Amino acid sequence: MLPGLWCVMEPYVIRVRGDTVDKPRVVLGVSGGIAAYKACELLRRFTESGHDVRVVPTASALHFVGAATWSALSGNPVSTEVWDDVHEVPHVRIGQHADLVVVAPATADTLARAAHGLADDLLTNTLLTARCPVVFAPAMHTEMWEHPATQENVATLRRRGAIVIEPAVGRLTGVDTGKGRLPDPVEIFEVCRRVLARGVTEPDLKGRHVVVSAGGTREPLDPVRFLGNRSSGKQGYALARTAAARGARVTLVAANTGLPDPAGVDVVQVGTAVQLREAMLKAAADADAVVMAAAVADFRPAAYASGKIKKKDDQDPAPIVLVRNPDILAEISADRARPGQVIVGFAAETDDVLANGRVKLARKGCDLLVVNEVGERKTFGSEENEAVVLGADGSETPVPHGPKEALAEVVWDLVGHRLT
Ligand code: CTP
Repeated sequence: MLPGLWCVMEPYVIRVRGDTVDKPRVVLGVSGGIAAYKACELLRRFTESGHDVRVVPTASALHFVGAATWSALSGNPVSTEVWDDVHEVPHVRIGQHADLVVVAPATADTLARAAHGLADDLLTNTLLTARCPVVFAPAMHTEMWEHPATQENVATLRRRGAIVIEPAVGRLTGVDTGKGRLPDPVEIFEVCRRVLARGVTEPDLKGRHVVVSAGGTREPLDPVRFLGNRSSGKQGYALARTAAARGARVTLVAANTGLPDPAGVDVVQVGTAVQLREAMLKAAADADAVVMAAAVADFRPAAYASGKIKKKDDQDPAPIVLVRNPDILAEISADRARPGQVIVGFAAETDDVLANGRVKLARKGCDLLVVNEVGERKTFGSEENEAVVLGADGSETPVPHGPKEALAEVVWDLVGHRLT
């Protein structure tokens, strides 16, 4: 450990020596795509949250956003070539000194050059000398993204430990839409923040496929009414985001959340418990871990009225007849799609939290159960959570009150431990 005073400022350890503070050093590589302008927002998020950012654009990126913008926003010099400031050996130093390199947008060309180890400009030199985590946020047209050449380059980069965020689906440069859009800068920033907070160069869930359910199911009574619950989906999204930042391929099965898709995550939208079950069984078939964070309705109306149910002034309301929904967690746990698959459930309890949790863990047959107390003002919709993770092996891991992402990290620590 370096001499001097250390203070922990969530989420990084910031080194303070005398009057100077060592800010986490981020290299923002920008390659030549129309989405380059969105990297300005990413840059601002980094600088405003106390990071020292060195922007390394490619020559083509400067056709979209000029060097003056990058320099003014970062407060640092900007160059694209290895021939500027040669006495400072920038082609080696910038990469060596970085805590994180993020390339956003990463074009098909930049991914190809990185995958093949080319060093024909400052950005590719930096990628070769960096020993810190590297995140690529690709943006390109769907055809380019889906081309086997690009897919093989992405696979190569991922195999070497880089985090390649899945592009978002949406409007592209022209009138066309499809997969290939740069994920929202806020989402890219979140991935980078989690990667920096973990401070590891090798993502521990690299090569793993994890499936997370989030939100709450809605069981329709008629075209305008449903039986639902108050789950916001935020904990499931935090789990998906953190798993992606730890290198996993993530499938998020989202039930009625209305939240923006986390960067680098395949999102499957569902409505009812039956749809959730179908999506989970499909995704779990090749998953290393399954986390059921969604609140699933135990019952659904036995009948669905295709027209709006009308009240009749001269009659009492008709009773709603309910039938049982499948218990998805119990089913996935009992019939594991592959040996060693780790399965995690969530239990929100109002009373006798731990005792009820133990009974539920045994009944569901999962490996871990995250138990938390809920009530009128607790957990639902909040950014924070507090829980105890019960293990089928008898373990008990308390997680103090804190951001939902902190709980998510503990869950992945415990899952990762079981996977290895
Ligand atoms: N779950 C599920 N399928 C259901 C109900 C719940 O997969 N039909 C999952 C939830 O996603 C969660 C866990 O089981 O991970 C516990 O959910 P909870 O609602 O607490 O469990 P229930 O079995 O419904 O128990 P209770 O009688 O307390 O409602």
